[in-house]
Amino acid sequence: MQSSGNGQGNAMWGGRFADGPSAIMREINASIPFDKALWRQDIAGSRAHVSMLAAQGILTAGDAQTIDDGLQAIAAEYERDGVPEDWDLEDIHMTVESRLTELVGPVAGRLHTARSRNDQVATDFKLWVRESIDQIDAGLQAVQRALVTRAAEHADDIMPGFTHLQAAQPVTLGHHLMAYYEMLRRDRMRFASARERLDECPLGAAALAGTGFDLDREATAKALGFSQPTSNSLDTVSDRDFALDYLHAASLVSIHLSRLAEEIIIWASQPFGFIRLPDSLSTGSSIMPQKKNPDAAELVRGHAGRIIGAATALSITMKGLPLAYAKDMQDDKPPVFEAHGLLTLSLASMEGMIAGAEFNTDRMLSLAGSGHATATDLADWLVREAGVPFREAHHITGAAVARADEKGCALAELTQEDLAAIDPRVTPDALAHLTLEGSVASRRSYGGTAPDRVREQVKAARETLGMDS
Ligand code: ARG
Repeated sequence: MQSSGNGQGNAMWGGRFADGPSAIMREINASIPFDKALWRQDIAGSRAHVSMLAAQGILTAGDAQTIDDGLQAIAAEYERDGVPEDWDLEDIHMTVESRLTELVGPVAGRLHTARSRNDQVATDFKLWVRESIDQIDAGLQAVQRALVTRAAEHADDIMPGFTHLQAAQPVTLGHHLMAYYEMLRRDRMRFASARERLDECPLGAAALAGTGFDLDREATAKALGFSQPTSNSLDTVSDRDFALDYLHAASLVSIHLSRLAEEIIIWASQPFGFIRLPDSLSTGSSIMPQKKNPDAAELVRGHAGRIIGAATALSITMKGLPLAYAKDMQDDKPPVFEAHGLLTLSLASMEGMIAGAEFNTDRMLSLAGSGHATATDLADWLVREAGVPFREAHHITGAAVARADEKGCALAELTQEDLAAIDPRVTPDALAHLTLEGSVASRRSYGGTAPDRVREQVKAARETLGMDS
């Protein structure tokens, strides 16, 4: 809302000012358009603060009760009607306090005893980030469940495995899907460790130097679900590591989701034809009636740019700030809010795409042998059965590949004469080992693509996710 400013001083801090701020000052200063998202945290923080002030004898029990009743009434109002936006009130902290004054009168002025907006906003924002981490973890888990479920279905299905996007060796689709499960597993660890690091309550650091009032910082920390208070008041009011931790972890998730989205887009293209996306997560073209576009996947890929941009934005905001608080830090919230919204949507879209995709396993299988994908198996056979050093076996196999290309046939279709001409140690028996099934089944090293190894990975993942209980 445009300010109702009338040129008079600000009611909260205007004591020393003869003139009120200009319209431009009011507009550039106002964070209420976005920090109203913190209203729940702001009221929770104030309630913890006021109850501690009363317990310490800094406020009377009666005043504390009046203030607490007022805060609860405001919460009910905001829940029902939303938070009003008045630029003159700058931010959520002053908006709540001003409403409290309207509701309970001058006693409201006691709420801000032994507190500053600097420790207040750090507390509110930390609480918000903590909750957001929990939401992202739930979203990550949901995608993991979808991946694990589809991987179990397709533990035996063979597809081309790529390096350089060139057919490299056959792999199983279940193995490919479980690769993304692993990425998201690390993402969840990163968020969990970010959550541990933010587990210290800023409240009580006051403006920057602490306060002369006899606070019980342990009590407010505990009331707000933190294990302990922060240790250095200067650091406390100028620390936004927790927001950066969130954004960095979010960036990495977005990178993983973007890579999966990219694969989905490639797989859904006609030349590949590996996957059909659910109609509910695709769009059509206004001019080409036959089109079905993987827009959700493209937007997940696109959103990664914005999420990484948000991490960069806040890093650059913070990098040159001297201690302690500076108003630059008010710009901490929009990138985090934006990244959180985008990531939440991306996770939900990805869960839907993975759960609802139809995999064309015949098509995958038919392309799995292209590009002589089992050539390594021939080289391995020469090492194992004929005692040939691997480098030499590689060379012999290369000659077999060249011969097959010359004839326009698969490796397994080379004749006995072809093989004898290449190297007498390659017998027709070797060719029997070049089937796709034989190839994937043989890759039983821990973490390998063999169906029974994939089933092991799936089983462990289901246990971790509590899918069997
Ligand atoms: N709206 C401000 C922010 O988000 C609150 C802190 C204001 N502190 C101050 N000293 N002016 O950072």
